[in-house]
Amino acid sequence: MKTCLWVLLFALPLAAQHGRYESESTNPAIGDPVAIAAGSELYLRSCAGCHGPDGSGGRGPNLVQRPMWHPLSDEAIFTTVRNGLPGADMPPTNLSDDETWQLVAFIHALIGPAAENPTAGDVTAGEAVFWGSTAGCSNCHAIHGKGGKIGPDLTNIGGLRPLAVIKKAIVKPSDELYYLGNESVTAKLRNGETVRGIAKNRDIYSIQIIDRAGKLHLLAMNDIAELEILQRSPMPGDYAERLTAQELENLLAFLAHQTLRPAGPEAK
Ligand code: HEC
Ligand code: HEC
Repeated sequence: MKTCLWVLLFALPLAAQHGRYESESTNPAIGDPVAIAAGSELYLRSCAGCHGPDGSGGRGPNLVQRPMWHPLSDEAIFTTVRNGLPGADMPPTNLSDDETWQLVAFIHALIGPAAENPTAGDVTAGEAVFWGSTAGCSNCHAIHGKGGKIGPDLTNIGGLRPLAVIKKAIVKPSDELYYLGNESVTAKLRNGETVRGIAKNRDIYSIQIIDRAGKLHLLAMNDIAELEILQRSPMPGDYAERLTAQELENLLAFLAHQTLRPAGPEAK
């Protein structure tokens, strides 16, 4: 009889989790709303056909998710847009320097951290959604030490992830699990107990599981009879229906504002 049954339903590549640029240019177009708007026009004309109108990909790769495993810099995007990617089916352009920077500014806004870009929703209304019982986000997520521990801490989520990635995490949580180290697990122990929760750290000798009550269980693999790791995100999958479009927009605005970056010269 097997003493240890592993039910590994999926495996993920060990991906770097960047939402941030490797280096940010000081070109004045970056972050300038007028340049971003002009870049948006250029993008729809020359790039959307391959990369999708929202950057989600098609013939070319998904630009929003790309920096999560392949950090980009503004300069690298400039060069890519100018020269194309020979051999990779991306053509060069003959845009002026100014136009190219407008395009880079647009891509930066699209794929850079949410906190650096303007958002449409109402932050205060979104804060109420986050802490309210309809959404129940704070049962699992903490911000500045308040809230649940089962999900990742969201204190700096706006400083880390592009808006489109945050949105996808909420609306389609099981689509893609970027977050290795947050798998849903059920561990059946040799002593008959069962521990359910999120695996925080796991190696061949031990596993740490945080249960729904926020309690951390440190388990030795030797004590586990059966370990089941689920591919499904532990997040509820019905937020697109449970929240109104307005509530979702406000919630996104609130999350985009969660950043540890200094807000001004006085902030720490
Ligand atoms: C004919 C299709 C096509 C068009 C048009 C196109 N791209 Fe691409 N693009 C690609 C492909 C294919 C790749 C991926 C190459 C690879 O696999 O590395 C790519 C890659 C990229 C990358 C990632 C580069 C990197 O180093 O990771 C960026 C940024 C990019 N494109 C921006 C743009 C912009 C901006 C435009 C409009 C000026 C544009 N693309 C037009 C097909 C296209
Ligand atoms: C039952 C617990 C639970 C609830 C309720 C929940 N989440 Fe999550 N959430 C998780 C877990 C666990 C993860 C990490 C695994 C994953 O990505 O699916 C996560 C991931 C996320 C991420 C991605 C975090 C990152 O590091 O990029 C965001 C953003 C997020 N949740 C926001 C929310 C919001 C907003 C709500 C309320 C509308 C919510 N969650 C409700 C458990 C929960």
